[in-house]
Amino acid sequence: MSPLSAHELTQQRLADVTGIDESAVSHGQSVKSVYVYEAPVRIWHWINALAITVLAITGYFIGVPLPTMPGEASENYLMGYIRFAHFTAGYILAVGLAGRAYWAIVGNHHARELFWVPLFQKAYWREVFTMLKWYAFLIPQPGRYVGHNPLARLAMFSGFLALMIFMIVTGFALYGEGTQPGSWAHTLFTTWVIPLFGQSQDVHTWHRMGMWAIIIFVILHVYAAIREDIMGRQSIVSTMISGRRTFKD
Ligand code: HEM
Ligand code: HEM
Repeated sequence: MSPLSAHELTQQRLADVTGIDESAVSHGQSVKSVYVYEAPVRIWHWINALAITVLAITGYFIGVPLPTMPGEASENYLMGYIRFAHFTAGYILAVGLAGRAYWAIVGNHHARELFWVPLFQKAYWREVFTMLKWYAFLIPQPGRYVGHNPLARLAMFSGFLALMIFMIVTGFALYGEGTQPGSWAHTLFTTWVIPLFGQSQDVHTWHRMGMWAIIIFVILHVYAAIREDIMGRQSIVSTMISGRRTFKD
């Protein structure tokens, strides 16, 4: 074995004392990151997640109200506040989605992934099946993706976007019943949505079913995000916070 140079000896002692192998650090490759999600996409994601949480909790109690409140009726406005929170979060959700759609036009190409899926590309479907096999523990390694993975993209489009449009349309149709004929919500939504489903109670039931579908989406989505972060080949959760994707290998 060749004797160590003075510099290597110093490095060796430093590693022994501090536990930090300086030479390994200096020879290590620098971490490269790609800027994927721009600030408006990230801000929208977290506001949207918060709005949906409020909508699901308040919506649940609108359909299955709390037992009667004690005391004078005029002293209690609990259901009123619950409905107010629901409608406020409903407006935030709808305006937020419109803003997100605008950003799909002016933002980078990853901002468009939520709004369309390359259904007719064979290569795309191959990647979808690769990801399915990865989630089913059938292959040892998934692919590496800068934007959403192909399966996530399909879930976002069919399980999130379509469902959100459904909830907004049925939500404002119900809202228009309260704001009465002549209001914009009644004119734009109530007039055709209620007859389409049959009657008001049918719209309530479908709107409530939509909530359960969203809850299923969120459970799968959060599971996949955390699982990919731990087991996948790239950063996931931190990417929706900082916007940057880093790769592990
Ligand atoms: C993620 C989105 C949403 C979820 C999970 C959700 C959930 C719910 C649920 C579970 C109900 C009770 C249905 C029932 O059993 O009768 C409800 C009612 C309602 N929601 Fe939503 N909703 C959402 C979006 C919206 C939006 C965007 C609006 C528009 C303002 C809206 C307006 C309403 C109205 C007006 C009612 C009926 C209130 C009442 O009858 O007192 N919802 N929602
Ligand atoms: C109500 C709850 C949530 C909903 C509805 C939701 C919905 C979405 C949607 C629609 C996207 C696509 C974003 C875009 O392309 O514009 C997305 C991405 C993402 N979400 Fe959520 N999200 C929710 C909660 C969460 C939570 C709690 C986490 C963290 C654990 C999370 C982590 C992520 C990550 C990491 C991405 C990017 C995934 C990727 O890079 O492929 N989400 N989410």
